[in-house]
Amino acid sequence: MLLELDGVTKHFGGIAAVNDVGFEVRKGTVAALIGPNGAGKTTLFNLITGTLEIDYGSITLNGKNLSGLKPFQLAAEGVTRTFQNLQIFNSMTVLENVMVGAYLRSKKGFFRSLISYPARCQEEKKIREESLMLLDEIGLAEAAGFPASSLPFGQKRLVEIARALAADPCLILLDEPAAGLNSAESEVLTGYLKKLRDRGTTMVLIEHDMETVMRAADKVIVLNFGQVIAEGTPAEIQAHPEVIKAYLGEDEKIA
Ligand SMILES: Nc1ncnc2c1ncn2[C@@H]1O[C@H](COP(=O)(O)OP(=O)(O)O)[C@@H](O)[C@H]1O
Ligand SMILES: [Mg+2]
Repeated sequence: MLLELDGVTKHFGGIAAVNDVGFEVRKGTVAALIGPNGAGKTTLFNLITGTLEIDYGSITLNGKNLSGLKPFQLAAEGVTRTFQNLQIFNSMTVLENVMVGAYLRSKKGFFRSLISYPARCQEEKKIREESLMLLDEIGLAEAAGFPASSLPFGQKRLVEIARALAADPCLILLDEPAAGLNSAESEVLTGYLKKLRDRGTTMVLIEHDMETVMRAADKVIVLNFGQVIAEGTPAEIQAHPEVIKAYLGEDEKIA
């Protein structure tokens, strides 16, 4: 199993934002995390990526306990993410924004500064080429040299995902990637996620839009008040009585 959560709990003051959560994500699959606002979805991502420390329970990646690791160490382990509130470096170019992701996982780390100048140039060239390829895939190769601030919101979101991919991750966590996108942008995003899925990229996706979930996810985990209340295939979840009762209104959208 690539990712395993067991009894994961996090309190803020007296409130259990995440309460005894357990689930597994198999390598090469896409899990969608759904549930109403405040259910604990982002907190769970913050726990998996080391932004927050867990109170109880365990999170393992390929059997290795991740507890106590900081975000940069988790990036080195191959865990990368995007943020609910988009994080783009507006003063950098589109290409540089993607290249940042690759440096996060630079194997040389601290010793980078000790390697020879030609070797460093070689590495930089490789990172640049790979980042350009990622931009090409999302149709933004032409915009590589533009300031990131010049892109519309939907394209910034794609750049953020490309940055997460540039780290060559074994697991990528996407926090509401379709939020704020118009329907055309959302269509592009879903197509791209589906492509990544077909390629065997392991992802956990926080997503409200059931259509995106249906198209991009292998399984769905439903959180409510910090707890898992249902888990199953997208079709099972759409037919799940408790989920229907709690979240699915007439328009079939999650609250
Ligand atoms: N840093 C924090 N400090 C205090 N409370 C927090 C913090 N982050 C989240 N919470 C609370 O934890 C609960 C879960 O929030 P969150 O994980 O953001 O939910 P979701 O992403 O599912 O909307 C909410 O009640 C929220 O107010
Ligand atoms: Mg959230």
